[in-house]
Amino acid sequence: MSKSNEAWGSRIGLILAMAGNAVGLGNFLRFPVQAVQNGGGAFIIPYLVCFLLMGIPLLFIEWSSGRFGGKFGNHSTPYILDSMVKGRVLKYIGVFGIFTNIAVVSYYTYIESWTMSYVYHSLKGTFNGMSQGDVAGFFNSYTDIAHSTTGIPYEAVWFYILCLIINVYILSKGLKGIEKVAKIGMPLLILFGVILAVRGYTLGTSGASSMFPNANAWDGLNFLWTPQYSSLLDLKVWMAAAGQIFFTLSVGMGTIHCYAAYLKTKDDIALNALSAGFMNEFVEVVLGSAIVIPIAAGYLGLDWVLNNASFGMAFQTMPYLFEQWGPFLATMGGFMWFGLLFFAGITSSLAMGTPWMGFMRDEFGWNSNKGAWTFGALALIMGLPTVFFYQQGVFDEYDYWAGTVSLVVFAMLETILFSWIFGMKKGWKEITDGADVKVPTIYKFIIKFITPLMLIVVFLGALFSPLNNDWSGNLKSLFSGNGWNLANSSIIKTITQSGLKEQIATATDSVIIQ
Ligand code: PHE
Ligand code: NA
Repeated sequence: MSKSNEAWGSRIGLILAMAGNAVGLGNFLRFPVQAVQNGGGAFIIPYLVCFLLMGIPLLFIEWSSGRFGGKFGNHSTPYILDSMVKGRVLKYIGVFGIFTNIAVVSYYTYIESWTMSYVYHSLKGTFNGMSQGDVAGFFNSYTDIAHSTTGIPYEAVWFYILCLIINVYILSKGLKGIEKVAKIGMPLLILFGVILAVRGYTLGTSGASSMFPNANAWDGLNFLWTPQYSSLLDLKVWMAAAGQIFFTLSVGMGTIHCYAAYLKTKDDIALNALSAGFMNEFVEVVLGSAIVIPIAAGYLGLDWVLNNASFGMAFQTMPYLFEQWGPFLATMGGFMWFGLLFFAGITSSLAMGTPWMGFMRDEFGWNSNKGAWTFGALALIMGLPTVFFYQQGVFDEYDYWAGTVSLVVFAMLETILFSWIFGMKKGWKEITDGADVKVPTIYKFIIKFITPLMLIVVFLGALFSPLNNDWSGNLKSLFSGNGWNLANSSIIKTITQSGLKEQIATATDSVIIQ
């Protein structure tokens, strides 16, 4: 094990790096889609409850676990967990987390590479004069790797490799590199985000086109912000809300442990963790919800948004919508929007490199250079299927298994480990030691009972999701001896039917047929 004296340069550097880790593509691309797909205002209450009862507790758990392990010179989740529960197999949760990071980073950097290409095309004026269909067609052509006609042959592959190289290069510079990127990227991201969000909030009906005379940006905002209580009993909405909270706060993967391992023993955790967490929520709830949805609703109408919400929506439509602002502002809009996404993305993908690098360092004493390049190579190998088979839906499989299910499983195990095996007495001491704010004592109770319980419920719910999401009907059926009908999307059914294998097989077929 190599002891290191690396540490964060300053408190502001630490907070920006941690906020950069959390603020990501999830805030601007994933949140709006999750919100729309789960009923808009129906999503928001479960989402906020999950933030308070699972998100904040997990931030405290991961920050304090990281600082604790760092005292013993550890840099990676398996070693950090080992320092908390000596000799227990539970430390292998950390190894599982490292795989999750590599799987997530592989598709995450793919989207990040789109943002680089779209900055380039916005500046070059590629989208000038394109119809809405042309802009959408451009994205389809871009992601149809072998037949792409966007300019450079195999353009998406080259941008993907370039994006990985940039990430690897910064990671090879160690902590200093990450801190520097966060110090430049985060302020720019907030600036661009505020400008675009103001546009979203003030668009009103002025954008309505002759095709969509009823288009109104406020329809989008109202849809998101009018609470609907009917969904409170819908477990599927809760699941989606929990998944989004984990993804957006970057918990459940070990990146926060790795960053926090570079804290000093008496460094504050409570206030730092809350600052980074609330900064993420501000960017997500205030800025993230004010750009794609209202701008798209303002030009194309809310119905269009409801029918077309997807990860790619921002790429398929935004350049066209910016064009309505005239050539100069369209270029600026594209530059700011895709530039913002790039900074959001890179400060997060860098974080996903640290668990692997830290582990190789703890285990074999590897330096940053060696760690970073092997990380890049692994991401490339894992990522190529998402690049080549994006249109066949491999991407969604990665996001579901690595970006949702694995996070919940990891979070559940580490919470049990922290509050019940490490023990809440020691745990609470770790959270409050050196704290610059008083943590409400109720969180001691929440972390010990509520958070683990909610995690177990979410996990079991995903495991056994019933057909048509009909919980009460299936419970009745179960008790009257007629069994339980699993939904096709339940984890158990997906595994037993090897839906994943089937999908990959069809994906491969369709590529060969082409
Ligand atoms: N929180 C990041 C986002 O919102 C994604 C992420 C997840 C980053 C897990 C690191 C670890 O985009
Ligand atoms: Na986020």
